[in-house]
Amino acid sequence: MSDNTTSTGTNLWSSTEHAVAYLGRARDIPRRVEGETALIECLPPVLRRVLDLGTGDGHLLALVLAARPDAEGVGLDFSPAMLDRSRARFAGNPRVAIVEHNLDDQLPRVGGFDAVVSCFAIHHVSHARKHALYAEVFEMLEPGGVFCNLEHVASPTVRLHDQFLTALGVSPADEDPSNKLLDVYTQLEWLRALGFEDVDCHWKWRELALLAGVRRTDAGLQALGSSLPGSQASG
Ligand SMILES: C[S@@+](CC[C@H](N)C(=O)[O-])C[C@H]1O[C@@H](n2cnc3c(N)ncnc32)[C@H](O)[C@@H]1O
Repeated sequence: MSDNTTSTGTNLWSSTEHAVAYLGRARDIPRRVEGETALIECLPPVLRRVLDLGTGDGHLLALVLAARPDAEGVGLDFSPAMLDRSRARFAGNPRVAIVEHNLDDQLPRVGGFDAVVSCFAIHHVSHARKHALYAEVFEMLEPGGVFCNLEHVASPTVRLHDQFLTALGVSPADEDPSNKLLDVYTQLEWLRALGFEDVDCHWKWRELALLAGVRRTDAGLQALGSSLPGSQASG
């Protein structure tokens, strides 16, 4: 096992070199702005609190707060280099809190949110942890709140994966060993089974996809219950 390999798999993101190298190419990721624009479109018109998982230098959180200037934001990350940069970005802004947290661990108690967002971060945790994390996100959302995950997902075939790497200008040897890519279908099915509604992949370009779902309102849950076999309404 290397220093960066744990029982949850390889993750190089706590290294400063890894974080700085990403930031050097982050704005050149093809079609990124399209995905971010689609994410902003999924946000509720009135946003009180937003949580950004794997916030990095705070780029996505800043976009969300620019679109919803009255919202408060919380960003989570475990990389010291990223935490330095996001804290510097939001220095003096009392509406933003940046919290050190490893997404391998249960989400911290940082209150409820109308939106939980993430960009290219959750694919660095194991599949089992992704599923548990989605359940925790559901619990942190207020009824009617939205989860918007702009994510690096798995290609259905090796050839399509290779084409994606070529489009990124990355050779297979330079692929990030931290990646634990999972297909869109499985993740959407997980979200539905967890109780999210209006679950969909709203935007996709090759291995970049916006997966989103809304936490059912109490009224929605009651309607679902009454439509189940054996319930009073269905009898
Ligand atoms: C590809 S970068 C994306 C950063 C930012 N969201 C953006 O859009 O530019 C992945 C981010 O996920 C963070 N990350 C990776 N694994 C993590 C973990 N286990 N816990 C917390 N953050 C993690 C990294 O530190 C990094 O900031």
